Amino acid sequence: MTHSLAVLVSGTGRHLENLADLALDEQADFDAEVSVVLSNRTGVAALDRAARFGLRAEVLEGAEGESVESYGRRVFDVVRDAGADTVVLAGFLKKLWIPADFAGRVINIHPSLLPAFGGKGYFGMNVHRAVLERGCQVSGCTVHLVDEVYDNGPILLQRWCAVEPEDSAEDLAARVFQEELLALPEALRRFWRR
Ligand code: GRF
Repeated sequence: MTHSLAVLVSGTGRHLENLADLALDEQADFDAEVSVVLSNRTGVAALDRAARFGLRAEVLEGAEGESVESYGRRVFDVVRDAGADTVVLAGFLKKLWIPADFAGRVINIHPSLLPAFGGKGYFGMNVHRAVLERGCQVSGCTVHLVDEVYDNGPILLQRWCAVEPEDSAEDLAARVFQEELLALPEALRRFWRR
């Protein structure tokens, strides 16, 4: 069965590109298509990447004073309209309410070994800076199911890497990201096999 992905983004879109590449690669053992890309911001690189792949892309900005639930309802209207069966948060930085019919079908990737360095404020380079400040000797990434609490749901897959003594936050981010590129598709393969 070919799975249908909705990929939610806020920024760069490297994961989006990786998933779209894999979906086109018949040797990749990745039986999926990206049926919609949804961004909460206009003008981000992820939307350019979506356009290069010819993917359907929608921008849904939160309205002034809009509740998390109201925003989530609009997001999932698009997700359902696109026929997606799985939702991936690939660098999506807005709090997302999940309706009952998608509970257990929304997946996030986070650039630390959760539950360490997760939760509010831990996004992007903040995560890697905190890992370095604490003196961690390993870091990595976590793919998990999303529930109503930030970075909290059941873990599907983790991959780790070393933290080197001279690492800058950017060095560490780049090393972790190499693990992320493997972790997200592999977690999806396993999730779909369950
Ligand atoms: C990744 O590091 C991911 O772990 C985090 O946001 C970043 C997304 O990068 N949640 P990109 O937008 O896919 O380039």
